[in-house]
Amino acid sequence: MAKVAILTSGGDAPGMNACIRACVRYAIYKDLDVFGVERGYKGLIDNHLNYMNNRSVSGIVQRGGTILRTARCPEFNQIEYQQQAAETLKAYGIDNLVVIGGDGSFRGARDLSNNCGINVIGIPGTIDNDLAYTDYTLGFDTAVNTCISAINSLRDTMDSHDRVSLLEVMGRNCGDIALYAAVAGGVEYVLVPEVKYDLDEIASSIKFSQKRGKTSNMIVLAEGAGDKDEICTAIKQKTGISVKTTTLGHIQRGGSPSMADRILAAKFAVKAIDLLLDKQTNKVVGIKDNKIIDCDINEALSKKREFDKELYDIAHNLSL
Ligand code: F6P
Repeated sequence: MAKVAILTSGGDAPGMNACIRACVRYAIYKDLDVFGVERGYKGLIDNHLNYMNNRSVSGIVQRGGTILRTARCPEFNQIEYQQQAAETLKAYGIDNLVVIGGDGSFRGARDLSNNCGINVIGIPGTIDNDLAYTDYTLGFDTAVNTCISAINSLRDTMDSHDRVSLLEVMGRNCGDIALYAAVAGGVEYVLVPEVKYDLDEIASSIKFSQKRGKTSNMIVLAEGAGDKDEICTAIKQKTGISVKTTTLGHIQRGGSPSMADRILAAKFAVKAIDLLLDKQTNKVVGIKDNKIIDCDINEALSKKREFDKELYDIAHNLSL
């Protein structure tokens, strides 16, 4: 019987468990033997694999994190570690691997396929939504909803005190979490790495808004867009107003996955297993214009991300 192993790698993202569950159950439905690898590529190197059945993934669809656990494994760019990982798989008679993770995880998968002959399919799992070939990555929707809930709470208290608040969110070098949260949360200012911003303009706009009777102002800052303390100090100098800061941090990475992430997880998993059954390798799955797609892994990794300037303009125009 053909065999497939599944691993999660890099930062965890809500929906990874739903995706593991779907991979395991669909692979078994298609008569494959399934193995779970613990702690990503580290588990492959260290031979930490477990046989999985339908019961191994019971009761996890609603849970954040990853039951397979995860790790970052920078040494996996060295061929000797890739070979060690491939030997582990071959010892179990496994030549198919599903990798759920971000761009670093995809690079590891590609190397394992090119250098060691393992069939690999990648599933995009990261809250950052920073992969150009797909409209959405697993975990992004839930992370944005977590940000929205923080924005709602902050708005209540900021409004009561006529205050200005800055919320720093994750995303590495990608502003999508900040942008989507800002539009959906109705915040006044969004600072993202993709667009240059002007603190003089923001400061005078805050002052002017108070004259117009606005009772609170909110700024969402993407972590890659600047230093929150420097931004707050500059606004205080220019306006005399103190800004209350909140860093949402790893709260964004956990929590029960949203409906959108659970459905995406199921669809990605089915596509990934179907590709492996079709003897394909070095591919990643994604969603484009609401359709599940696959894409060559090298093409996916080299594609340049396009920032959604239209949504950014909407955020700006609705904030006044
Ligand atoms: O890639 C996901 C992410 O949460 C980023 O948004 C963030 O910059 C980074 O991981 C944090 O990494 P760590 O969990 O290793 O601190």
